[in-house]
Amino acid sequence: MAQVDDMHIFVNAGAMAHFSTGDLTTPLVGLAMSSTEQIHPPGYGLVVESGVIRKIAHSEEILDEFGTVSNVHDLCGRAIIPGFVDAHTHLLWDGDRSNEIRMRQQGMSYAEIAAAGGGIRHTVSHTRASQNLEEIGIERREISIENGTTALEVKSGYGLDTESELRLLQIYDDLQSQLKNPRLYPTWMGAHDIPHGIKRESYVEQILSEQLPAILEQGIATSADVFCEPGWFTIEDTEEICREASKGGLSIRLHVDEFTNGDGLELAAELGAVTADHAIHSSDDARAAAAKAGTLQGFLPGTPYVMGSDAWPPIQQCIDEEWPWTLATDFNPNCQSLSIPMAGSLVTHRLKIDPIASLAAVTRNAACGLNNQNRLQGVIAVGAQANLIELKSSLVESWCQSPGHSPIEKTWIFD
Ligand code: NIG
Ligand code: FE
Repeated sequence: MAQVDDMHIFVNAGAMAHFSTGDLTTPLVGLAMSSTEQIHPPGYGLVVESGVIRKIAHSEEILDEFGTVSNVHDLCGRAIIPGFVDAHTHLLWDGDRSNEIRMRQQGMSYAEIAAAGGGIRHTVSHTRASQNLEEIGIERREISIENGTTALEVKSGYGLDTESELRLLQIYDDLQSQLKNPRLYPTWMGAHDIPHGIKRESYVEQILSEQLPAILEQGIATSADVFCEPGWFTIEDTEEICREASKGGLSIRLHVDEFTNGDGLELAAELGAVTADHAIHSSDDARAAAAKAGTLQGFLPGTPYVMGSDAWPPIQQCIDEEWPWTLATDFNPNCQSLSIPMAGSLVTHRLKIDPIASLAAVTRNAACGLNNQNRLQGVIAVGAQANLIELKSSLVESWCQSPGHSPIEKTWIFD
């Protein structure tokens, strides 16, 4: 039995979205994502012990049993939802590419901006030279927590050489040692772009012979990611890098079909990738194959939004077809938002996606794409990690309905 001080009880919640139906280690699909079964009516409460949810019941029952605990939090009718899991971020980089918006407005494409000295390679040179990466990481993690994020996937990819990629992953490791929660899930993305002054083929060779072995030896990444897109890494490059990374024990997350259908989602399904992200232009067959292979489609609505693109992913079709999908911020120098509620607003308000379905996509489903076996996240269930969001409103639907303002009263994380 834990110390009494280690217990917290929450009572008098408004609506409580729990997403705890069925096998909690699998994503919700179709109408189950937005079913009323996923939401407790007002009046519930819960008990947290040593950072884990121990009981969920009506407030009266909890008060009867645990009323003597000193940490009693009266929610006064505010809604409770699971902490957000941001399953796609490029958290660490330095420099500023805010000037690129005017280039886009003048008609330059992402590839043209990159060729003119902007884009990823611009960020790489500023990141390599930066002395402030740790402080930047701490500050961004804080912004994430304020926005309700309680677990994050964090990519390298602005180093693009062995030493610099290791440095980025080492900083994620240091950040995690300083603070146990939010959990950071590090992804090596050495194949994010081709560095200046080297041919693509030689860089891929360098990745395979030097960079990846060094990452594996250090054991500081759990996944590998490749920017599989015509003009960046080919299908063949991606396959080779992923097969080697898998052999080394890394799980696969990919950037696919962002600007055009390059068959990236098909490859992701073939490789058994955990998630294939962007997936804007993928074919229906590839989407069906991904679902069959257990590969999540990770949608990143902030990206078409900041790019001024009208190409949005077919999320409603995924719901109709019962294909599993997630949402994330894709925080990066182009898309500088660490707000999951903003991503939710984009799909709810632009694409008419049910706000409860999109909430499932940023909680339970996103957690299923990270290591959700040891400690359950993204659900409010007995035995799950007590990562909780107390909303300002009594209604769960409010989570994504205040773009530009935080809907959150408090993000609760326990060490
Ligand atoms: O997911 N597309 C590749 N990577 C990022 C963008 C990186 C950048 O522009 O710096 C993305 O959108
Ligand atoms: Fe990305």
